[in-house]
Amino acid sequence: MTSLSCQRDLFEIPREVAYLNCASFSPIPRPVREAGERGAAIKAQPWRIAHTDALAERVRAGAAALIGAQPGDIALVPAISHAIATAARNLPIPVGSRILHLANEHSSNVLPWQRTAATVEAVERGAGTWTEAVLAAIARPGAAPVSVVAVSPLHWTDGSLVDIAAVGEAARAAGAALVVDATQAVAAMPVDVARWQPDFLAFPTYKWCLGSYNLAFLYAAPHRQGGQPLDPNGYNQGAAGARRYDMGERNNLVTLPMAEAALDLVQGWGVPAIAARLAWATDRLAEAASGMGLPVPDPAGRAGHILGLRLPGGLPTGLVEGLAAEDVHVADRQGVLRIGPHVHVDEADIAQFGTALRNCLANRG
Ligand SMILES: Cc1ncc(COP(=O)(O)O)c(C=O)c1O
Repeated sequence: MTSLSCQRDLFEIPREVAYLNCASFSPIPRPVREAGERGAAIKAQPWRIAHTDALAERVRAGAAALIGAQPGDIALVPAISHAIATAARNLPIPVGSRILHLANEHSSNVLPWQRTAATVEAVERGAGTWTEAVLAAIARPGAAPVSVVAVSPLHWTDGSLVDIAAVGEAARAAGAALVVDATQAVAAMPVDVARWQPDFLAFPTYKWCLGSYNLAFLYAAPHRQGGQPLDPNGYNQGAAGARRYDMGERNNLVTLPMAEAALDLVQGWGVPAIAARLAWATDRLAEAASGMGLPVPDPAGRAGHILGLRLPGGLPTGLVEGLAAEDVHVADRQGVLRIGPHVHVDEADIAQFGTALRNCLANRG
């Protein structure tokens, strides 16, 4: 087992629900809900509003600490699409240069690039690893120069890993910027900007960080902090460092207290302990699947917190709904059965997953 015990008591998940879809939308722990409710109560009595700048700064510092950054390197933004669009606006992207992303990447790390003057290239994985494919795409003889490599540390559909340090090194050697969508990584696995050296890196609070929707963070490397925000506003006007990319209506009375409470919990547990607990859970879930003869991915090639099952013959229609009917909640991401447990998941959830999957597959003959 792992050093971090099951945290189910902090969540409001009925015993009969096995919630394994945190890569989509995590449940929030009770202290996070309560912090949001206190914030909403203050909005009902606005004369009580005080110290919201200090709150924003505490959240900024908490986000920075999670990725080994300084608070002044972090902007508060509403979504990953906004963060990536900010990066796209502030990187040198010559006409006809190439911007690389992983094939079947999440749209928030694709669509903003399509508004630039570059040719946006989806790198197919092929028979090897994502890392090999991206390195080969950067170095492809005769191809246009690469201006940006926009990647994730793990593919959002199945958790397959990308070696960001290696990709970043190759990008820098090629004169390209490195932009990391760390949505599926931060708080679930160690992330260190000193090691990866991204130009920009973004992550939201609503998945692995256990916070609300509509609040995300954009890390900007010190040499990328002189750019323009997407939305000039009173918060970012004249601000120094990454604060110059802060969003309008930044001092949100509901999402910021939720983020503060969530980041406190995450820091208290420690990311290595969270990662170890989630790796324990996905290993057991993989055992349950392989015990019924299903192929499972090599643990060395996937992140510890996401298990993506590719069923022989493809994902049967209605399987996700069938599992949900047995209160086992997972996702279909491009034909992959994506399973993402968080620290509330225990042995009973894993057993329930195994039974429900067996039942659903048996019902299909
Ligand atoms: C890899 C990745 N990026 C971004 C997002 C969310 O982006 P946004 O905050 O723009 O909705 C998700 C959500 O599933 C994701 O998996």
